[in-house]
Amino acid sequence: MHHDIKEILYTADDISARIQELGAMITRDYQGKSILLVGILKGAVRFMNDLKRTIDLPLCCDMMELSSYGDRTVSSGTATILKDATLDIEGREVLIVEDIIDTGVTLQRVLEHLGSRRPATLKTCALLDKPARRKVAIKPDYCGFIIPDVFVVGYGLDYAQAFRELPYIGVLKVACD
Ligand code: IMP
Ligand code: MG
Repeated sequence: MHHDIKEILYTADDISARIQELGAMITRDYQGKSILLVGILKGAVRFMNDLKRTIDLPLCCDMMELSSYGDRTVSSGTATILKDATLDIEGREVLIVEDIIDTGVTLQRVLEHLGSRRPATLKTCALLDKPARRKVAIKPDYCGFIIPDVFVVGYGLDYAQAFRELPYIGVLKVACD
């Protein structure tokens, strides 16, 4: 285990098993349709890559990037769009793919933004849900794991851009704000 990690919450095997289940649910729910996955950079890249392999439907992928954290562990409370999705969204089955929902500000911003482009449906899939610090009433349609109020890294999630490469999801030892 990495020396900055206090505890492993989910191993690579736990994550991969849960993603298989999410992919099966999504495949069942969208049967006969094709999906447009919109991943939120940078944290959801790894999750989206693994998730899309478990979905047995035609799909396309797009990406958006928002900023809210800077190099801290507490959200700034606003989410600015740095990079927009580029594919046409109107009339599509859109599924937003996010690494983690904390305050909910980021996902709310993405929902408003993409919702205004008249998708046929707009749903959300988050690998992790941290409901303790929620500021906006928002719940993912698909959720990997519900976690307590701890700062986690690994499997795409970072602290000041580090730790994304860890194969597991772990709790950071010192969170310095
Ligand atoms: P929200 O806008 O507060 O819901 O924050 C969402 C974004 O903050 C996520 O997309 C993550 O990039 C980041 N984030 C929230 N909690 C954590 C965490 O525990 N570890 C790493 N990143 C986090
Ligand atoms: Mg993110």
